[in-house]
Amino acid sequence: MLKTHSCGELRAEHVGQIVTLAGWVNRTRDMGGVIFIDLRDRNGKTQVVINAGDNPQDFATAEQVSREYVVQVTGEVGLRPEGMNNAELPTGDIEVKVNQFVVLNPSKTPPFMIDRDDVTDETLRLKYRYLDLRRERMQRNLIIRHKAIKFIRDYLDERDFLEVETPILFKSTPEGARDYLVPSRVHPGKFYALPQSPQQLKQLLMVAGYERYFQIARCFRDEDLRADRQPEFTQLDMEMSFVERDDILNLIEELMVGMVKHTSLVPLAHEVFPRLTYREAMERFGTDRPDIRYGLELVDVSDIAGASAFKVFAENVANGNPVKAICVPGAGDYSRKEVGELEEIAKANGAKGLASMALSSETGEMKGFITKFFTVDQLIALTERLGAKPGDLLLFASDTKSVVYSVLGELRNELGTRLGLKDTGTLAFTWVIDFPLFEEGLEDGHYAPSHHMFTSPKRDQIPLLDTNPGEVLSEQYDLVCNGFEVAGGSIRIHERPLQRKIMELIGFSFEEAKAQFGHMLEAFEYGAPPHGGIAPGIDRLVALMAGEPNIREVMAFPKTAQATDLMSDTPSEVVSKQLKELHIALAMPEKS
Ligand code: AMO
Repeated sequence: MLKTHSCGELRAEHVGQIVTLAGWVNRTRDMGGVIFIDLRDRNGKTQVVINAGDNPQDFATAEQVSREYVVQVTGEVGLRPEGMNNAELPTGDIEVKVNQFVVLNPSKTPPFMIDRDDVTDETLRLKYRYLDLRRERMQRNLIIRHKAIKFIRDYLDERDFLEVETPILFKSTPEGARDYLVPSRVHPGKFYALPQSPQQLKQLLMVAGYERYFQIARCFRDEDLRADRQPEFTQLDMEMSFVERDDILNLIEELMVGMVKHTSLVPLAHEVFPRLTYREAMERFGTDRPDIRYGLELVDVSDIAGASAFKVFAENVANGNPVKAICVPGAGDYSRKEVGELEEIAKANGAKGLASMALSSETGEMKGFITKFFTVDQLIALTERLGAKPGDLLLFASDTKSVVYSVLGELRNELGTRLGLKDTGTLAFTWVIDFPLFEEGLEDGHYAPSHHMFTSPKRDQIPLLDTNPGEVLSEQYDLVCNGFEVAGGSIRIHERPLQRKIMELIGFSFEEAKAQFGHMLEAFEYGAPPHGGIAPGIDRLVALMAGEPNIREVMAFPKTAQATDLMSDTPSEVVSKQLKELHIALAMPEKS
């Protein structure tokens, strides 16, 4: 080794020892005759001192180095002079008095400061990711990631799970996104698909009798990117045989609690995760990803608003649609502009407008255009139902159920941020269970699975598949944390006839089902055990535990929102010989 110790290791007990350190120059201070260098590696920083009087040749070399040079120093560990200790640095009591100084490699001036936490130009950070990753915060994040994955592996190993790798070159699995395709050279015109998840393979491992499988699995999805979405990301993918829903929920809950306690910078809000049904989540929070850190819950006021003289409400309720409202504390004196901004959010989520009432903070009197359509008794009933106080703002949505949910769900989310109600110092997990098997509404006369087509309907609901498939509840469950979906899973179908039936409802003809999923249907004829599983998203969990707003911050080499890698300029063109070998001719889109 070119070093005897790391830069984070030396303490007062090492005083008197001759050590060799190697690392990057974090900072130099030339005090005239004495140069102090903060030498940095992944483990920390150590102050090294080069004295011109003791060591003129090394002093001359050290004078030439600057930030990010790679150097090696040998010298004696000594206590820092009285009053020069740095309590913020674990190595702050000591320094290394250099008697041999070697430049291992010089460095150009980096495009941003490595030891500053306020580097804001993300484009630059991604282009020079190898420099960005030298920053303490990124190192901290990757260490949290490492610890989380190690905790997961140990936890599952102790519980008899087997880690099995599954192929990256496989067949399309329907998780709802577009596939990344890989053309086959040896089979012209045929393609592999990169897995959107190892869903089919883990189920096949259950058929194979492995009973308890997991994998830290890379998944690939070509979809619109957001702060919590990357085109390639990592799941803790797992599957178990002979289990019921609660076996999986309890196992994962214990795993999450343990992992957060072991690794997270942000503590848990509660160790027993509440369980909300999908319906309850939608009715109270307007979303199946409820952020339960704050209130602002949706309240049904259909009976009061439907009886009012406000036509829009009365007609909607008469047609069987709801009127729901949220009470925003202290927002009663929002300006016209501020309420206008909220209306824009409502419209962007499908509303035709946004009705509101404000309670005067002085008199408690109700203000707002729609107030005049309500009797005094109705207004009193509204304030009581919503728990409204003087100074509060009431926001109403009336439309189809799904529009009401998305409008008020998004307003709640926005107001939660604006009013500072989202406690960033806590992780609030919740389960969402009892999802509908299919999404609302038909696509081309067929149902779309709410999760994926391998999810089992609840056993007692199977007869409903023949009469009213839209009403069937499934064995799907999601884990949500602070408003992010951090895991999704289900108990699966394990019988061929039921799987075929679901495929038919989704719109697969017998031939299509056979071509795409013949191997699954066939496997189900060879003694497939009852089984189920789940896949927590590692990137999202680590971002939450590191207190980071974007999963890019916890991935070593992430892609931009346009799915590019700025460092290597990926994706890039290939030479025509490669295309030819793959039997590919390009038909480029016309430039607009
Ligand atoms: P699902 O599609 O719900 O389920 O994905 C599981 C979890 O993976 C994470 N995730 C993502 N993370 C980052 N970027 C993305 N683009 C992305 N997409 C998903 C989320 C999500 O909760 N095979 C099933 C699991 C199962 O049924 O066992 C599946 O993949 O945290």
